[in-house]
Amino acid sequence: MLRRLHPDQPASFAFTPANQAWAEAQITKYPQGRQASAIIPLLWRAQEQEGWLTRPAIEHVADMLGLAHIRALEVATFYFMFQLAPVGSVAHVQICGTLSCMICGAEDLIAVCRDKIAPKAHALSADGKFSWEEVECLGACANAPMAQIGKDYYEDLTAARLAEIIDEMAAGRVPTPGPQNGRYAAEPKGGPSTLRDHVADRDPLNASARRAVDLGDTIKRIDGSELPLLAPWGRQSGG
Ligand code: FES
Repeated sequence: MLRRLHPDQPASFAFTPANQAWAEAQITKYPQGRQASAIIPLLWRAQEQEGWLTRPAIEHVADMLGLAHIRALEVATFYFMFQLAPVGSVAHVQICGTLSCMICGAEDLIAVCRDKIAPKAHALSADGKFSWEEVECLGACANAPMAQIGKDYYEDLTAARLAEIIDEMAAGRVPTPGPQNGRYAAEPKGGPSTLRDHVADRDPLNASARRAVDLGDTIKRIDGSELPLLAPWGRQSGG
């Protein structure tokens, strides 16, 4: 698929001060002369901040790394994880359309997106709050069908439940991610067949869902204030 920059671009880009400090810390992970290796985390943070990668953001990251702009453009246009068009202001919904999910109902989930968001992938909903796309396997095949929305996975979905999740997000709420059919994690639908001693006293949420709920950043635009900046590798060199 041809991946081009969006025709409508903002005039400029700047990291928030906290994201700028985070980005500068990432660059110090790499030896002198190898700063270009930080390009993917920096592009990713720019996307986490803005929702999508604008041309000014790509060029800003290139400048931070001392790269020709074309080098950063090559990376941004190569990887599908980088969004080159504006995404919904609330959330971008990524429906897995690979084998397990397709067998278990991915087409029904896509129909919900076409109906509730926009007829075509990568288009904004009428209110600008949502966008969607079909993606390749997201590695949660035992919980098919599933979708990644923002940072987290919503698994064991039905069309009705996905519609509810979109409605909840539109209303300003973030539903708890993870399995949506009462399953704890990826155990058999009838319950775990091993490690059953741990069922009684476990957290009501699996570790991934618990972390998502505790951090509360599932669909939040990341401004750098979410977690303290840690750069322990810098201590060895006095940084
Ligand atoms: S096939 Fe959908 S997560 Fe693997």
